[in-house]
Amino acid sequence: MNENKKTILVTGSAGFIGFHVSKYLLIQGWHVIGIDGITDYYDIKLKKDRHKILSKFDNFVKYEFMLENFDELKSICSLHKPEIIIHLAAQAGVRFSIENPKSYLQANIIGTFNILEVSKLFEIKHLLISSSSSVYGNQETKPLNEKDNTDYPISFYAASKKSCETLSHSYSYTYKIPITILRFFTVYGPWGRPDMAIFKFTKNILNDKEIEVYNYGEMKRDFTYIDDIVLAVCKLINKVPLNDCNDYMENVNNYVPLRTINIGNSKPVELKNFIKLIEKNLNKKSIAKFIKNQKGDVLSTWADTSLLEDIIKFKPKTSLEQGIKKFVQWYLEYYK
Ligand SMILES: NC(=O)c1ccc[n+]([C@@H]2O[C@H](COP(=O)([O-])OP(=O)(O)OC[C@H]3O[C@@H](n4cnc5c(N)ncnc54)[C@H](O)[C@@H]3O)[C@@H](O)[C@H]2O)c1
Repeated sequence: MNENKKTILVTGSAGFIGFHVSKYLLIQGWHVIGIDGITDYYDIKLKKDRHKILSKFDNFVKYEFMLENFDELKSICSLHKPEIIIHLAAQAGVRFSIENPKSYLQANIIGTFNILEVSKLFEIKHLLISSSSSVYGNQETKPLNEKDNTDYPISFYAASKKSCETLSHSYSYTYKIPITILRFFTVYGPWGRPDMAIFKFTKNILNDKEIEVYNYGEMKRDFTYIDDIVLAVCKLINKVPLNDCNDYMENVNNYVPLRTINIGNSKPVELKNFIKLIEKNLNKKSIAKFIKNQKGDVLSTWADTSLLEDIIKFKPKTSLEQGIKKFVQWYLEYYK
């Protein structure tokens, strides 16, 4: 263990992105305190297996409880005194937010509120909070820039993420907490989420089952490979927004140590081409059922990553061909 490295709290450490970010930080020698409520939104075996891998590192400590439990969260912060928090725990998914909006209110809004409270109480040096490209709604102008309007979410998931962004802004302004809001664009890769397209398509193609292709395959996504997300997030840890804030806002001159930043591949791909690549890697054709667009799903996403490049001198670079290949290799190995 590296005694010089600081302590970092990662929420959602058994989740897809939280697992990869934690693993990278552990390899770098950070002391990682992982919190995850292991919700049953998808197979908890996958979450437990991710935590099992992290537990092999002696600089990792895990806690399994929900962030809504403020007392527990406070006592963990008081015990470990983290300097940095990366908040990745959330109820994710656009479609499930129609079925169960309350879980988004609790996990995303109360959960984030509790994270903001401990950040204030323990004077966290830098809080990084995950948000989503879905906050941009169905905006016509592309690529999507941090300065674009995000007042018109079309799903409750997006509304909960936008709410977390505004709650963060008020805490950053009032208590001078340095905050970076990370707007992720469709993240994929090994150990990914079973509710996401790449996972569902791979599983169904292998099992000779039909795949449902929304918006007749015409939707576009800016698919971003997990390793690029991890590198970008970890490079941002040291880019604490202090005097260089307000770089994402126009006509506002109040001082807020908060920065909002897109993390995407900046290369949107049509769903039907994405499916072709999965088929190529599985060496098998899909049985596709083309259906209309699903409520809440935006038609296309495309990140403008100039701010990201400017700040960390890095741009996601994994091609979809390489990324899908790695996902399929992992899937076949994990599920035998
Ligand atoms: N994966 C993507 O494409 C994507 C895109 C945009 C934004 N995001 C955001 O990135 C973050 C991570 O997403 P992910 O894909 O890793 O999702 P995930 O569901 O795999 O991970 C989230 C983890 O948080 C945990 N969790 C949920 N509610 C909790 C609570 N109240 N208290 C404690 N733990 C809780 C879950 O058990 C889960 O392990 C989320 O904020 C998500 O909204 C993800």
